[in-house]
Amino acid sequence: MPQGGAVPDFMENNVPILRGVSETLLIPLAARALMAQRDPVNFVDPLSTEFLQMAGKEPSRFEIDRWNMAGACARTTILDREVGKELKEHQKTVVVNLGAGLCSRYWRLGTPIGVRWIDVDLPDVIELKRQLVGACQEKKIIAQGGWSSIAADITNSDWLSEIRRADDEGMIIIAEGLLMYLPEVEVRELLDRLVARYPGGKMYLETWSPFVSRVWGHLSRRIRKTGTRVRWGLQRPTTLTNWNSRIQVLNSWSPADINPQEWGLLQFAPTLRRSLMKIIELQFAE
Ligand SMILES: C[S@@+](CC[C@H](N)C(=O)[O-])C[C@H]1O[C@@H](n2cnc3c(N)ncnc32)[C@H](O)[C@@H]1O
Repeated sequence: MPQGGAVPDFMENNVPILRGVSETLLIPLAARALMAQRDPVNFVDPLSTEFLQMAGKEPSRFEIDRWNMAGACARTTILDREVGKELKEHQKTVVVNLGAGLCSRYWRLGTPIGVRWIDVDLPDVIELKRQLVGACQEKKIIAQGGWSSIAADITNSDWLSEIRRADDEGMIIIAEGLLMYLPEVEVRELLDRLVARYPGGKMYLETWSPFVSRVWGHLSRRIRKTGTRVRWGLQRPTTLTNWNSRIQVLNSWSPADINPQEWGLLQFAPTLRRSLMKIIELQFAE
């Protein structure tokens, strides 16, 4: 079950108040807004800045957790690169971004017209996102094209029937900053459902090591403030294949290899740094 409230119990200036696990979306949003400020040539993402402003949050207040910021920026770099590459090669693809929060990847990548992009998140978040997208000043960028959203708890299975794909459409599923907040049994059930439903599909997921999952929810002031528990950690990507033999691990990347200088003292401990989190690319059997 999600820890965030499924329906906002009150509104402020017509914007739903985010609670529990849903409030964690502000952390990567602030990281991307800061990254866009600092590296405007290589990372163009005016929407993250605008979404954060509209949600009434100041990006620099999130810098208190340096590793959250470093990790979110690095995983963004990897996922933008890999998903962007896939979409250039296969324009007829359905992208399902699970626990999408206020992620603006669809617009940031200049997603090709043939792509159908579906952001899935809890109802309060999807309501907020639809409001912000509707109110956004960056009208040219926000042209919606193939973007849509589904309000659902991904630990249930009902939402899967809303996502159909044609025989000639590829499938990419993204789970970024999401699965560590679910109990392992729910991660396994979700993977089993996705593998059964989308044969031949690809998935990119972010995982934290069991050590990080045990300690980071307590050490990170920003996560602690949301009252959310970090629940799941993964030592080795191959465990996923042991869970379900129809899952193949194609690649895995250590976000902490990108800009090691952003990781404070951990920059001098590469083995430890690399073990903290991973982006894993999976292929589901046909
Ligand atoms: C740390 S945020 C990550 C947001 C986004 N992926 C990003 O990187 O900007 C975690 C997101 O997962 C969503 N989430 C958590 N549990 C969920 C569930 N059971 N079903 C759907 N979304 C969920 C939260 O509402 C939140 O938006």
